[in-house]
Amino acid sequence: AGEELRELLLSRITDVPDYPKPGVMFKDITPLLADARAFTALTDAFVALCERYGATKVVGLEARGFILAAPVAVRAGVGFVPVRKAGKLPGATLAQSYELEYGSAEIEMHADALTAGDRVLVIDDVLATGGTAEASLKLIRRAGAEVAGVAVLMELGFLPGRDRLAPVLGDAPLEAL
Ligand code: PRP
Repeated sequence: AGEELRELLLSRITDVPDYPKPGVMFKDITPLLADARAFTALTDAFVALCERYGATKVVGLEARGFILAAPVAVRAGVGFVPVRKAGKLPGATLAQSYELEYGSAEIEMHADALTAGDRVLVIDDVLATGGTAEASLKLIRRAGAEVAGVAVLMELGFLPGRDRLAPVLGDAPLEAL
């Protein structure tokens, strides 16, 4: 991303110490969402990635990924597909579990949401350990679609998310704006 965009986005993300638990520095994107110029600039940057990588669908990861991905889908003229925490989607789903620091989690996608010809850009706010993004890529491949790439607002560089994602990404790009 351009330096100007990067500065704008960074200026609208707030650090909240000890949320949701002690020792965690939470990245709050609500100031960015509330700023039309910043949210539009972010959306435009995601749309440019959609176009660069020839995406035919965008997948948003619950919950903040939904907010970021939906306007991108509209602007790019492609469909939006939600990947949700287990138990939230009404139709037949594909489920994928992944390891957390303690225990595991499970996400789901509607089984018929993607088709074999689809190229999918995954959009989320934060790449932390990479577990959620990794599981979403597995879902996309299991649905028979192709991964166009992963695009996040921010990557937490002190965590090994990029390394965890690398084998699953293959040749597909990981872009952190
Ligand atoms: C956060 C964030 C990403 C994910 C990143 O979502 O929005 O989706 O965690 O973490 P990871 O790279 O370690 O998998 P969260 O699970 O807090 O869900 P929420 O947006 O529904 O609160």
